[in-house]
Amino acid sequence: MKNDWANYRILVHALKSTPLSIGAVSLSEKAKALEMAARDGDVRYIEANHAGCMADYRALLAGIDAGLHGKAVPAEAAAEEPAVREHILVVDDDRMNLKIAERLLKSSYDVSCVPSGEEALAFLRSKHPDMILLDLHMPGMDGFDVLKQIRQDLGLGDIPVIFLTVDDDQNTEVKGFEEGAVDFIKKPFVAEIMLRRVQRMLELSRLRHNLEAEVRKQTKKAEERRERMERLSEEAVLCLSKTIDAKDKYTNGHSERVAKYSREIARRAGMSEIEQKDIFFMGLLHDVGKIGVPDTVINKPGKLTDEEFALIKKHPVTGFEILKDITEMPGIGQGARWHHERYGGGGYPDGISGEDVPVYARIIGVADAYDAMTSKRSYRDVLPQDVVRSEIEKGIGTQFDPTFAKIMLDMIKADVHYEMHE
Ligand SMILES: [Fe+2]
Repeated sequence: MKNDWANYRILVHALKSTPLSIGAVSLSEKAKALEMAARDGDVRYIEANHAGCMADYRALLAGIDAGLHGKAVPAEAAAEEPAVREHILVVDDDRMNLKIAERLLKSSYDVSCVPSGEEALAFLRSKHPDMILLDLHMPGMDGFDVLKQIRQDLGLGDIPVIFLTVDDDQNTEVKGFEEGAVDFIKKPFVAEIMLRRVQRMLELSRLRHNLEAEVRKQTKKAEERRERMERLSEEAVLCLSKTIDAKDKYTNGHSERVAKYSREIARRAGMSEIEQKDIFFMGLLHDVGKIGVPDTVINKPGKLTDEEFALIKKHPVTGFEILKDITEMPGIGQGARWHHERYGGGGYPDGISGEDVPVYARIIGVADAYDAMTSKRSYRDVLPQDVVRSEIEKGIGTQFDPTFAKIMLDMIKADVHYEMHE
């Protein structure tokens, strides 16, 4: 009996030492407890724990076997394996470690091995592996230096890096995580642990990539939807402006041309893209109040009576009333209300002058007058360009804001073949 205990103690002693050499600490401790129990003759403890310890040992052997011979890849891993084999770069100055890592991993992954940080960086300049296993302690550049360069200089923030280390100290791990490592694998390697950690981290990385791709896809869709809505709004406003122009047989396309000239003046005046867009919409809608003026008055061929002219003069306020509740563009009614004001005063409906006239209305005022002169009327053709030019010049400071009138004159000057008319 005594001999039996002695033999048992020798066996569990061996069981304690072997796993320790490959880092399987908890199994080693279980074997150690059995060794102590054998020394003390604690049969109960041995009966309760022997089977569990042996099962763990068999699992460890199976794991090593799986790693060495490329079999028994866990079922869940096989199910989630990507169609293309993932590529792992292993960096370690110890060539034996490189060999072991390669043998453990190559059944499931494409593996590249390099023996130094410098060679790892050279490798990464032309290749983009899915994961890097990086030794922490190497002569020359250590793992921290290499990781820093991978992240900062090479800009490869998306490749997960697992540190390979013999260190068992918390500070090293904390520093590693701070520098951007995703995990640690302790040396000497335990096949099962290494395979599972690599597999888990690759799964996480895949999920992250999928998530990012999905976010990109949804963002693109939202952007397309927004652009479509913007086009729809623009087209709806354009339709409305055509409806307004259709009331007057002599103002075909007037609102759209005023919108375009106004936008160009705003662009040349250095206004932002958003302001240019706003003024384009204001230009399209500046005459929307004409909806409230009878067609007979608008299309009257002869001279208007005072009453009829009073009806025409109502269109800026009517337009403003129509537009004032559009909350998405609160100032959109400005062009409608004040495009018939004069810079020097004496315009309508409010008789304001100078900078009191909102800037957008001052721009639309110039563009509106220009289009009136360069469009056909029942009683005349398009005015000659030099006549138009001198009318604009005459109106500087009286009818028109000098800044925007001068921009209009520049546009006329650039229009060498006088193409800018109805
Ligand atoms: Fe008008």
